[in-house]
Amino acid sequence: MLKTRICGIKLENPTVLASGIMGVTGASLCFVSENGAGAVTTKSIGLEERKGHPAPVVLEWENGLINAVGLSSPGIEEGVEELKAAVEKSKSPVIASIFAPTTKQFGEVARQVSKAKPAMIEANISCPNVEAEFGKPFATDQKAAAGVTKIVKKNSKVPVIVKLSPNVPNIKIIAQAVEKAGADSICAVNTVGPGMVIDIKTGKPLLANKAGGLSGPAIRPVAVRCVYDIYESVKIPIIGTGGVTYGKDAVEMIMAGALAVGVGSAVHYRGIDVFRKVCNEIIEFMEKEGYSKLKDFRGIAHE
Ligand SMILES: Cc1cc2nc3c(=O)[nH]c(=O)nc-3n(C[C@H](O)[C@H](O)[C@H](O)COP(=O)(O)O)c2cc1C
Repeated sequence: MLKTRICGIKLENPTVLASGIMGVTGASLCFVSENGAGAVTTKSIGLEERKGHPAPVVLEWENGLINAVGLSSPGIEEGVEELKAAVEKSKSPVIASIFAPTTKQFGEVARQVSKAKPAMIEANISCPNVEAEFGKPFATDQKAAAGVTKIVKKNSKVPVIVKLSPNVPNIKIIAQAVEKAGADSICAVNTVGPGMVIDIKTGKPLLANKAGGLSGPAIRPVAVRCVYDIYESVKIPIIGTGGVTYGKDAVEMIMAGALAVGVGSAVHYRGIDVFRKVCNEIIEFMEKEGYSKLKDFRGIAHE
């Protein structure tokens, strides 16, 4: 009932572990897969080892999470080793998320992670936390986004997903640019912001980095609107990500046009079996409404 296919890759269900949550080691990716995720995404892998930002890096506020992990990464060798372990043992397809500070380096990281034979490669061109070091995210400029897409495609043997930022005035233009440059799929969206939460007792920002990306329930309407806009402007499949916590949220994303749904912060709210819970809730909804396949209600918000 929940089976789907993205870029020719079979998924038992449409839930996909979002990048950055439990995705550093092969063992944790397999654990998420055993807990029912239709596919799992690694934490973004970069060429060099990076410490990321000082702690605290993730905090809960009233309506979501705020994080400034700052793309911490063990570097390419360890990243590829863990990825290999996941690819060998994971029940569900493994997506390798990659990042780099330059277009050229994106090509090199894509080439290296390809050795581990992931099912797909996701180019994270949209992290909002590293602007001071990396400059504006590639996802905020159509030419830069297309440039990264082209080079990652050239260096990958598997379908390429490009992960977009919601922090742009017109996401349709960026989506069209990456589709034209050869992207096979779009993941929308990365975190919103950056935002800031101040502790009114100390009068200081809660995060050591002061500002960070917002995720979880608070950003769902922004993510749904982005998926809706992208669906209207391109033909490639969309992984709708942002605030999906319950089955009803996944249904909403699919109605906006998503083929699969990313689940990240919800692991914090509902535990590791959130994937199974979300799937059961989607089935409950479908039975109640008389739908037998996901495609029966995919994109119906546009009709
Ligand atoms: C702690 C944390 C770390 C993240 N790290 C990454 C990352 O390394 N690469 C990436 O593409 N997205 C990263 N993200 C963004 C998520 O993959 C996702 O796009 C975003 O959180 C929205 O989905 P959610 O509301 O389901 O969490 C991170 C998010 C969080 C909360």
